[in-house]
Amino acid sequence: MTGHDHESRIGELLNRMTVEEKFGQLQQLAWAWDTGPGGGDTEAAEAAARKGLLGSVLNVVGAGASNALQRIAVEESRLGIPLVFGLDVIHGYHTTFPVPLAQAAAFDPAVTAKDAEVSAREARSNGVHWTFSPMMDVTREPRWGRIAESTGEDPYLTTAYAMAKVRGYQGDDLTAPDRIAACAKHFVAYGGAEGGRDYNTVDVSEQRLRNLYLPPFRAAVGAGAATVMAGFNTISGIPAHAHPHTLTDILKEEWGFDGVVVSDWTGVLELIAHGAAAHEAEAARRSLTAGVDMEMVSTTFADHGRDLLASGALTRERLDDAVARVLRLKLRLGLFESPYVAESAALTAPSAESRAAAREVAGRCVVLLKNDDGLLPLDTSGPRALAVVGPFADSGDLLGTWTLPGAPEAVPVLAGLRAALPDTDIRHAAGVSPEGLDTSGIAEAVAVAEAADAVVLVVGEPPALSGEAAARSELGLPGAQEQLVRAVAGTGTPCVVVLVGGRPLTIGTWADRVPAIVMAWHPGIEAGHAVADVLTGAVVPGGKLPVTFPRTVGQVPLYHNHERTGRPYDPAAPGTKYVSRYLDLDAGPEFVFGHGLSYTTFALDEPRLSRERIGVTELRAGATVEVAVPVRNTGGREGDEVVQLYLQDPAATIAQPVRRLCGFRRVRLAPGEERQVRFTLGADDIGYWTDDPAGEFIVEPGELHLHTGNSSRTRARRTLLIT
Ligand code: GLC
Repeated sequence: MTGHDHESRIGELLNRMTVEEKFGQLQQLAWAWDTGPGGGDTEAAEAAARKGLLGSVLNVVGAGASNALQRIAVEESRLGIPLVFGLDVIHGYHTTFPVPLAQAAAFDPAVTAKDAEVSAREARSNGVHWTFSPMMDVTREPRWGRIAESTGEDPYLTTAYAMAKVRGYQGDDLTAPDRIAACAKHFVAYGGAEGGRDYNTVDVSEQRLRNLYLPPFRAAVGAGAATVMAGFNTISGIPAHAHPHTLTDILKEEWGFDGVVVSDWTGVLELIAHGAAAHEAEAARRSLTAGVDMEMVSTTFADHGRDLLASGALTRERLDDAVARVLRLKLRLGLFESPYVAESAALTAPSAESRAAAREVAGRCVVLLKNDDGLLPLDTSGPRALAVVGPFADSGDLLGTWTLPGAPEAVPVLAGLRAALPDTDIRHAAGVSPEGLDTSGIAEAVAVAEAADAVVLVVGEPPALSGEAAARSELGLPGAQEQLVRAVAGTGTPCVVVLVGGRPLTIGTWADRVPAIVMAWHPGIEAGHAVADVLTGAVVPGGKLPVTFPRTVGQVPLYHNHERTGRPYDPAAPGTKYVSRYLDLDAGPEFVFGHGLSYTTFALDEPRLSRERIGVTELRAGATVEVAVPVRNTGGREGDEVVQLYLQDPAATIAQPVRRLCGFRRVRLAPGEERQVRFTLGADDIGYWTDDPAGEFIVEPGELHLHTGNSSRTRARRTLLIT
């Protein structure tokens, strides 16, 4: 069936539908699996489906349950319009991949595409048609629990991942049995919540909206994202669920988005709590007319839509447009022709292949933060005693936030190391619990460490402290873990710290006590094997930080792509008084955006430009500048380097970031091998959006400084003159 056929089918259905049935298509209810804020109500969903007053259900788990509910809608309702089933398949269905922030650390969108492809295959086979993913909220807030779901602080990196994940979920044909509809969320600027407290106020200028928060969504829509989800936050005083400028002016009119905008869970009803609606009918009116098409869990559209239509507060055109979008999604998914899933073909567990994929991805996400004296990779020659200690050493709780019920637990680090080092005498002690203050177990951990040739100390934050509604006011190791680190480091046995978590952690109070630290994030189902691969050198770490690691929570927000200010801090003149800094803390983070070491070394030589100058008119017409960056493996083993290209516009109408990532490439080089890494710069990379609400993208004449490096700590290498 072609797109034209879809539109004629939609027109034919709209003509047959009653007003109640139309509002029914705009309703999404939750299945009883969920025990979330509103919980699920299967009976209510079945009753609504039977009356043809339901468009979608979320959290249906299992092919049998999906078919049972679908059969009611298709075979018992008047028009037999199929339901579309949604689920939060954020980083895996049966096979849990590393959390999205970890995947961002790979600086390789192929890893997120692999997650999406495996997830789509497993989910669709179980009757899921639509995932509420990828989340593409740029954020500079490590206190915000949902940073774990994000791609971090950079819009360019987030954009690359957003496009890759949408394509990985959707492929070229949404009717395929291994593809699902994507959902670009949370539209928009949800990651800017003040204080990092979830759901909190966001006050943002038009230019920051368009240069920082909107680019990933624009690219996701361009990549064909079938749906978009509204965010819980306000945007400069207007809730995102009732924000016509973003939902309609930009998303639907400027970008031509013809898919479905779904609310977040009771996000429409929450307009009342926001202080943006006096009652439910007002919430429904503001949200529907602003551009939300489908209501998740709350029922204000269905309850008040008929009256809003009768009073003229809602136009029939808007109603029919919203219904058309929902029907279009179902037609694109092929649900009218194939509403049911083959239960016999449902994938019920991870496969060896999917586990292998998750293991490879997790290894690519590990960031080597520190490796003094080349302690890593571990010396595995000959029998040695290895201590593996810490509250996460023998823990399967490493899947991360947003994992599905029934997803197999992670392989513990201890099991991974035992499998990798069968001839090594490996001793274990937890020492402390993840969050408890009981230190009575530290003595055992110290004893195990003292008797070993090396110690692997696995510490960090549990997934329970990560994700939605999981903001933290401190970023240090929870509970008594820091005491454990100090005690084990104090034994003098060479110690590697494996950090796990879903956010940047402040480690400055103990990091100088240990020679080696890796950030493993929440690595997913194959955690233990992936960590062992890196610690033993089977995999050479090549990840980079997608978020700045502050030294203290007091520095937050702290990020690489900041504005200069009128009195920038100059590290060359640390004593200068009247500059932007703290009196009680040296400037700068613990680790910068883009930081990550390897088991080998690399040299980046001066970039070469295809031209030293280019005109605004030429750029506007599509002309580009090629940048070639020579990179060489100067060490003794093969490894990956991420070559990064940043722009700095030192004089612009709107102050530009001191570093603007505009290219990255992860390359694998053998010892001594040299490669030319090439980037192409065009108007989109050089220009920026102004504060004009109508959307004005400008490219200005002047000097641009090009920075290349293997982190955001770079220096200007070349000047490109825009004429
Ligand atoms: C949650 C989240 C959203 C998720 C939805 C359905 O509150 O904000 O990301 O997709 O509800 O679970």
